Formats: sequence, C-alpha cells, structure tokens
Amino acid sequence: MYKLMDEANLLYYKQLQNEEKLAFLFENLDIGIFILNEKLELVLANSVTENLFSKKRNQESFETWFNHKKMYQLITEAVTTKEQVQGDVRIRQPKNHDLNVIIRILESSTTEYVGIIYDVTEVKQIEKVHEDFISNISHELKTPTTSIIGFAETLLAGAKDDPEASDEFLKIIECEGQRLLGLIQNIMMLLKTEKDIYMLDTVVSNPETVVEEELERYQYKISQKALNVTFDSTISREINLPGNAFQLIVKNLLENAVEYTKEADDIFIYLKESEGELIFSVEDTGVGISEKDRKRIFERFYRVSQSRQRNTGGSGLGLSIVQHYAEILGGVVKLSSDLGEGTTVIVRLPIEE
Ligand SMILES: Nc1ncnc2c1ncn2[C@@H]1O[C@H](COP(=O)(O)OP(=O)(O)OP(=O)(O)O)[C@@H](O)[C@H]1O
Ligand SMILES: [Mg+2]
Repeated sequence: MYKLMDEANLLYYKQLQNEEKLAFLFENLDIGIFILNEKLELVLANSVTENLFSKKRNQESFETWFNHKKMYQLITEAVTTKEQVQGDVRIRQPKNHDLNVIIRILESSTTEYVGIIYDVTEVKQIEKVHEDFISNISHELKTPTTSIIGFAETLLAGAKDDPEASDEFLKIIECEGQRLLGLIQNIMMLLKTEKDIYMLDTVVSNPETVVEEELERYQYKISQKALNVTFDSTISREINLPGNAFQLIVKNLLENAVEYTKEADDIFIYLKESEGELIFSVEDTGVGISEKDRKRIFERFYRVSQSRQRNTGGSGLGLSIVQHYAEILGGVVKLSSDLGEGTTVIVRLPIEE
C-alpha cells in the first residue's frame, strides 16, 4: 500500500515537473501561443502574445482581447469551418509587427482553439531590402544602357557622317559603357558572401603599397583639383587578407575623398597597426555630409541630393561595399562628418600579429 502511494506521488511529481517544464517552454518560446475555450474566451496567452498585443492575459472574449479585425476574421473562419486557418496579420501598435498566425482546434477537444503566432517582421524586412535592391539594380542598369542604345541609334540614323557629332556620341557611349561596367562590378562585389570571400586566395600584401597604388589611380584628378594629399603610414610589413578586400575598401574611400572635395582641399590618409588591428583612415576637408544623410549613407544606392551630384556618375554603392567587406573581415567602419567642414572615415580590421 505504502509503495503504491509512493509510486502515485512519484507519478504526480513527474507530471507536475512536466507541467512546469511545459509552462517554462510556453513562456520562453519565441512564438506566441494562446488558447480559447469553448466560449471563445482567451484562457491562456504566453508573454510573446501579450507583448505583441500589449495586453495582459485576462479571461475575456477573443474579440475584445485582440481587438483586431484580421485576428477576428481568422478566428471566426477557424470556428465556422473547423479547419486550420493561416493568415498574415499586421499590427501597428505599440510597434509595427508582421505576424503569421495559425488557428486550429485543439486536438484533444472539439470546442477549444489554439493559436500560434510567428513574428515574421525581420524576415519581411530582409525580403523588402532584397526587393528594393533588385529594383534599384534594374533601374540603375537601365539608365546607361538606354543612353548607349540611344546614341548608337542616332549614329546609325546618319550622325555617323558628321565627324564632330560622331566623335561626341562615341565618347558618350564609351563613358556610359564604363559606368555600366563599374556598376556591374560593384553589384558583384556586394553580392559576394563571407564564404565567397574567404574562398579567395589570401593575398599577402603591404597595405602601404596598396594605398600608394590606389592613390596613383586618382593622381590625374588630384592634380586637376589641386588637392593637398598627405599620406602617413607607420606600418610597413605585409599582411594577410582574403582576395582584394582591403584594396576595395581603400579604393572606395579614396574615390569619395577625391570626389566630394572642392578645389585645393586637403586629404589626410593614415595607416597604422594597433593591438592586432589595421587602422586605415581617410580624412577630407570637403563638402561634408549632413546629420540626416549620415544616417542613410551606408545604404545601397543612397546618394546625397541625387540631382546635385548626378554629374559625378556614382551609383551610391561605394560605402556599402566598404562596410560589407569590413564586416566580413570582422572589422568596423566609423564615419564622422560635418556639413561644409569635411568627412573622416576610419576602418579597423583585425589582422594577425
Ligand atoms: N568623403 C565624403 N564627403 C562628402 N560626401 C560623401 C563622402 N563620401 C561619401 N559621401 C556621400 O555619400 C554618398 C554615398 O557614397 P558612396 O560612395 O556609397 O556612393 P557614390 O560615391 O555616390 O557612388 P559610387 O561610390 O557607387 O560610385 C555620396 O553620394 C556622397 O553624397
Ligand atoms: Mg563613392
């Protein structure tokens, strides 16, 4: 008899433990769960559900508890059809959330319902960024392509017989072709993932030489604008980094410094090594970036006042590439700027000692 009771107690205990475990799980799941009784009153809701609808659990009709049109529709449909119902729900208060909600009859009964809520806000955001990226790519590729076709057609229609016009149009075609090529290369750079980059061969190079070589490419523009460029380096050993990641970072930052400065402005570049990090900085006394624009400057295709800078032919990908590559290499990018005063960008990359 005693043994039997003991066993019963044990069973009870075990069950209690499971319930506790279940309650723990219920509260700590990333998904929202709620249960409606046969009167369609809310009898259970975990904290995810409470937080999403910013309400404390309370036994009341689902209609007043959720106070949400789409939730009402989904639950009513599940109740009338007795089938599982699934749908997207968007809530705006207290914060925007995109949810995927499933409602179905609890298996053990035919009158109680369980609701499962997946918060898909982040997934939707990523999808949106990808969609915007694709539509921006299409738009940006169309502009130079249309121009190339247009000028080629004009040449074919007779302009080729006018040496002056044909010279001018061919120059435009060449320039737009270069722009198209640059754009495609930039897009390819951005699409490279961490895996792709680390699969590239490690390039052993002297960062000082990389900067010098990149600077060389802008020499014409530097002297045209009479810019004062100073380059200081306290690192003259070789470093290992995958592919041309460092070179791309240098190229894009130098290009911006040269592009967004006025005549006779200054550009200070320095390279140093500190506590296992390679530090590369480009400072300019150029046009600067307003606070509003600084917030968006690393977004793909974002450019400050597009119309004003259209003549520079950039596509707003340079800084995205710098950030993308720095992040993949485990580093960080910091930009500080004052409108009309200048801009400083500092990149820190972890390197082997
Ligand atoms: N050093 C800088 N000084 C002032 N403005 C800058 C500087 N660097 C970037 N910007 C601003 O940030 C915007 C985004 O720069 P980003 O390099 O990403 O693109 P872009 O230079 O317009 O085009 P791309 O680099 O793709 O040719 C630029 O359009 C410019 O307005
Ligand atoms: Mg740029």
